[in-house]
Amino acid sequence: MRNVGIVGTGSYVPDKVLTNADLEKLVDTNDEWIITRTGIKERHMAPADMPVSELCYQAALKALEDAKVGPEEVDLVIVATVTGDHAFPSTSCIVADRLGAKNAAAFDLQAGCTGFIYGVATANQFIAAGMYKTVLVIGGETLSKIINWEDRSTCILFGDGAGAAVLQPVEEGYGFLSFELGSDGSGGKLLTQPAGGSRYPASQDTVEKNLHTIQMEGKEVYKFAVKIMGDVSVNVLEKAGLSKEKVDLLIPHQANIRIVEASVKRLGISPDKVVVNLDRYGNMSAASIPVALDEAIRAGRLREGDIMVMVGFGAGLTWGACVLKWTKVGKMHD
Ligand code: ACO
Repeated sequence: MRNVGIVGTGSYVPDKVLTNADLEKLVDTNDEWIITRTGIKERHMAPADMPVSELCYQAALKALEDAKVGPEEVDLVIVATVTGDHAFPSTSCIVADRLGAKNAAAFDLQAGCTGFIYGVATANQFIAAGMYKTVLVIGGETLSKIINWEDRSTCILFGDGAGAAVLQPVEEGYGFLSFELGSDGSGGKLLTQPAGGSRYPASQDTVEKNLHTIQMEGKEVYKFAVKIMGDVSVNVLEKAGLSKEKVDLLIPHQANIRIVEASVKRLGISPDKVVVNLDRYGNMSAASIPVALDEAIRAGRLREGDIMVMVGFGAGLTWGACVLKWTKVGKMHD
């Protein structure tokens, strides 16, 4: 089996910023409540005429440039999203076409906010097994389009954005060292956009009842997240045969600063090794981890040989984590 790593990243968020002060004009909330309960100060919003494929395309362009890979070299495009352009065709097909990735297979993957981790785990298998050499994994969301802007318990949490990574074979001992993925569908109702699919097809009734917007049992999701983020980080390190002292950088899903802090405490690593950008972006679901990854790399927070953990949880319910020994040097000759 080949070793597989991330050889390029990119990210993109729309220009428009929605601050907590802006939200105070929409619902009965305030800056202090939002910051204390979530850590979020502002988030980015896609304009009405911008679909998620545009965000994904922009992030992917940067990732390909960073990896010095041409679009026709890409063998597979995976887009992780819960806010695809359409029910079908897939957003990945739209993005592959726009990129000119004419030799690529393409599919979307849906694992809520864990989507990017599921995406890189899937891409890793294709490359490790020898079927493909270059896979583009994108996590992108336009959550602003499925928010109920009258529900103060959810509309303050989410933002729009996309992050992308190019995966290729790397030197032995580098790249992905372990994965941990899981699901528990019995918790599906805790976090859902109920209507628009085959159970509740779009109708006047579903629209009137706001069933095309995010419905969340915040407290239950919070309890689940705190436990699973800690547990899965511990397990994935154990699988890689590494102790927590070896971790140089932790990139957690950016849902809520209190969830991040609780999982960091459970894992027992120093907070200065943790990437946090939710104050500027809110929760971007499948885009959160790849945007944080791209920013961390561009800020010089990852060096050759560093051990990095990415961990997330999300709708489904789902969870996932991976450990990497960092290198950006691809090994394409075998
Ligand atoms: N502004 C002011 N008050 C508010 C707001 C708001 N925006 N939202 C809720 N409140 C009120 C509630 O009405 C409630 O008032 P009451 O006591 O009079 O009934 C009070 O604040 C406390 O509400 P709680 O829901 O108990 O607040 P909590 O401390 O649980 O924080 C939050 C809510 C931030 C949503 C938290 O539960 C949370 O972060 N949950 C996890 C959310 C999450 O990570 N979701 C994942 C999303 S998708 C994904 O990443 C997979």
